[in-house]
Amino acid sequence: MKPVRVGICGLGTVGGGTFNVLTRNADEIARRAGRPIVIEQVAHRSLNPECDLTGIKTTTDVFEVARNPDIDVLVELVGGYELARELVLTAIANGKHVVTANKALIAVHGNEIFHAAHEQGVIVAFEGAVAGGVPVVKSLREGLGANRIEWVAGIINGTGNYILTHMRSEGRAFEDVLAEAQALGYAEADPTFDVEGIDAAHKLTILASIAYGVPLQFEKAYTEGISRVTFDDVEQADNLGYTIKHLGISKRTDAGLELRVHPTLIPKERLLANVHGVKNAIAIMGDAVGPTLYYGAGAGAEPTASAVVADLLDVARDIATDHHYRVPYLAFIGIGDDDGSMPILPMEDIVTAYYLRLLAVDRPGVLARVATILAEQGISIEALVQKEATEGELVPIILLTHRTREKNMNEAIRHIESMADIAGPVTRIRVESLDEQE
Ligand code: HSE
Repeated sequence: MKPVRVGICGLGTVGGGTFNVLTRNADEIARRAGRPIVIEQVAHRSLNPECDLTGIKTTTDVFEVARNPDIDVLVELVGGYELARELVLTAIANGKHVVTANKALIAVHGNEIFHAAHEQGVIVAFEGAVAGGVPVVKSLREGLGANRIEWVAGIINGTGNYILTHMRSEGRAFEDVLAEAQALGYAEADPTFDVEGIDAAHKLTILASIAYGVPLQFEKAYTEGISRVTFDDVEQADNLGYTIKHLGISKRTDAGLELRVHPTLIPKERLLANVHGVKNAIAIMGDAVGPTLYYGAGAGAEPTASAVVADLLDVARDIATDHHYRVPYLAFIGIGDDDGSMPILPMEDIVTAYYLRLLAVDRPGVLARVATILAEQGISIEALVQKEATEGELVPIILLTHRTREKNMNEAIRHIESMADIAGPVTRIRVESLDEQE
């Protein structure tokens, strides 16, 4: 059969990994695809010493690849928003299929890209955009196709998990571990995307669209990073039987969909609590299958290349199929059209449990007042720990609450922080049991 001709745009960490995996495993891949997948052209800004480009046509202009009539599939690995968007839309306009690992591109411009691709009858595949080498997009889109998805919760930023893991196990400083993650090629070009939760929100946005059949709505995701998590909170959580993980969570509720990324206390015995280093894991609850878990390397050259090359295999198998019989981009027919029945809920309307840490003056009645404020908001306390005074006359108080609406918790925290006997802001970390009943 005719080979599938690929143009790779970008030869950085993932581009280099893709080039090498595709070259090294060419025979195995051809046996699976039923035809060879050949690299026709590579566009790169600078050379990657890991890649031997001997005999490969190269260019420094990515748009040359998008217009090259000898190319069937453009692999977009340049990253970022604008250049990638223009490149992908140009490739689509030229009738090319597209494979990308760019979560920012799909989360922010995916609706536009899928509409353009649908009009042209071409494939846009993006397995590498979520959780690196973990085939969660395909599992959710195809493997769980029988289910009504109830919730998705995952560790979907390898850098953040790497930092939390090493801070906890080695007591190392945040910046020190971040520098290591950057050297290993895990971190985004702008590392605030990792530590402030933006990268995880991109990925969660994509997962939620595939899970529930709604348009991509990155702008409505609540995003909170790990930069304010302290070692103190990690220790307190541990004493209470919890681990702090940075999670992306999306739940279906009667009122709409929750879409939120934030540090989260989860019971130590959950599998997600035991996912360490750069590994990612996503738990998905389907009404028929129950809870399922997808685990593996969430970043890095060859793990992400594994996902990109798997997408190329899918393209090779589907290239001759009538577009209307292909698997829809976001799992549902209608390219994520919005009928308004599942709005993304504002953060004030989400319901969860909370961990609170406050510093109080050691005086009679302070704890009683805090408990009263919580009760006034209908918030029930599940556990309370008052430590001995360690900072002058201030005592740390740790509280775990039952599930409540975020709006009520905001109000309670506002009142607690206004108390004369409470010092500084109240630390609030959300708590999820991630059990099968929720
Ligand atoms: N910076 C990302 C991460 C890379 O750390 O997970 C993979 O998307």
